[in-house]
Amino acid sequence: MSGVVTLFKGSPETPAGDSFLAFVADEDSYQVARAVAGEMGWSGAAVQRGGAGDVLEMLGHDLPPPKLLLVDLDGTANPFATVAKLASMAGPDTRLVGLGSANDIDLYRDLISAGASDYLVKPLAPEALHHVIRQAKQTPRRAQPQETQPGRLIVVVGVRGGVGASTVAVNTAWLMAHELKRKTALLDLDLHFGTDTLALDLEPGRGLREALETPNRLDSLLVASSMVTESDRLSVLGAEEPLEESVSFGPAALGALLEELRGTHEVVVVDMPRHLLPANRPVLGSAEQVVLVSELSLAGIRDTARMMQVIKVLGGPACVVVASRAGGSRKPQVDQATFEKGIGAKVAHLVPDEDKTVAAATNQGKAVAQLSPASAVVKALRGLAMQMADAQAPVKKGLLGWFKKDGA
Ligand SMILES: Nc1ncnc2c1ncn2[C@@H]1O[C@H](COP(=O)(O)OP(=O)(O)O)[C@@H](O)[C@H]1O
Ligand SMILES: [Mg+2]
Repeated sequence: MSGVVTLFKGSPETPAGDSFLAFVADEDSYQVARAVAGEMGWSGAAVQRGGAGDVLEMLGHDLPPPKLLLVDLDGTANPFATVAKLASMAGPDTRLVGLGSANDIDLYRDLISAGASDYLVKPLAPEALHHVIRQAKQTPRRAQPQETQPGRLIVVVGVRGGVGASTVAVNTAWLMAHELKRKTALLDLDLHFGTDTLALDLEPGRGLREALETPNRLDSLLVASSMVTESDRLSVLGAEEPLEESVSFGPAALGALLEELRGTHEVVVVDMPRHLLPANRPVLGSAEQVVLVSELSLAGIRDTARMMQVIKVLGGPACVVVASRAGGSRKPQVDQATFEKGIGAKVAHLVPDEDKTVAAATNQGKAVAQLSPASAVVKALRGLAMQMADAQAPVKKGLLGWFKKDGA
């Protein structure tokens, strides 16, 4: 196969260094691609019979990647992962165009976020191919795929029930998506009683349980069908499984799902029921942060201390402790100093209790952060969201700032 790519370099029809390579599986697409290549004056070797596997092999041989690479994805078990791999191997100067029989907008979006420039649905039309060739000439460089750097994984755990962990998870995810402009996924692992989709007035998607219970079937399509989108930047995965059915999954399945999500999102927030922690030890190892949410109470001290201990033993990162529903409309049982002394660590963020504000958002199915962005609850959660996203506080350009700058 060596030399295939260079055969049609610098042909009269294309600028120097320009090249095209197609790997197509079916006869019809092959004939169309051959005809178009012929019209462009390119060598017949520009169009090969084959698919993604052949392209991976070619790129693995260190051959220079073409400017435009058309790859048949039919028969590829995980098109998303394949495209991500192809994109990273070919590098940013190659426009990667997928070809396949599936006519599915979610798949299309997935492939784009994996690094494809376009996706053509079979039967391959000559005009469609001409169109991508024109585009390749106009905009030779495509954006770097997002998955060169996996998204940040943040695990949120309530040390006791009802402490406000889901409220923390939902609202920090919302703030990161809307205010910090991070592409965010929120995964609610309470498949029976989870409230994350409910809090945002979304119907849970279908497929989360299947994705977790049958990881061998996990692919970008299944993940896409498990996901509902709150907005361009916020996707939520949740379920409302029948209460009479138990659901069980292991760390391998969760790990595979998280890897998939981290490939397409800048931040992944996991709302994790505390009883799932021990069984999902490997997930803690790859988390950027574990956020422990507690109320200020004696039981909270005991359970926060125990959770910090177990997370350390399980190989997790240092915990970010959040005291939730602390003060405001509810008097805490113990004060912050006593709590901190009890757990032997500092509280990183104090989220006050604001019954009316939180209840109003719940009733309207909106994030508190959306309905009451200036509330004390949201101010505290904004600080946490910035820490989760590893974002810098915006520099305030107040009058004082200007004086300081000029007079310093
Ligand atoms: N800061 C807060 N102020 C007032 N009510 C809150 C606050 N945080 C959570 N709540 C309420 O407390 C209840 C439990 O919250 P939730 O986030 O579901 O907790 P968890 O996930 O820890 O069980 C909900 O009714 C929620 O609206
Ligand atoms: Mg919860």
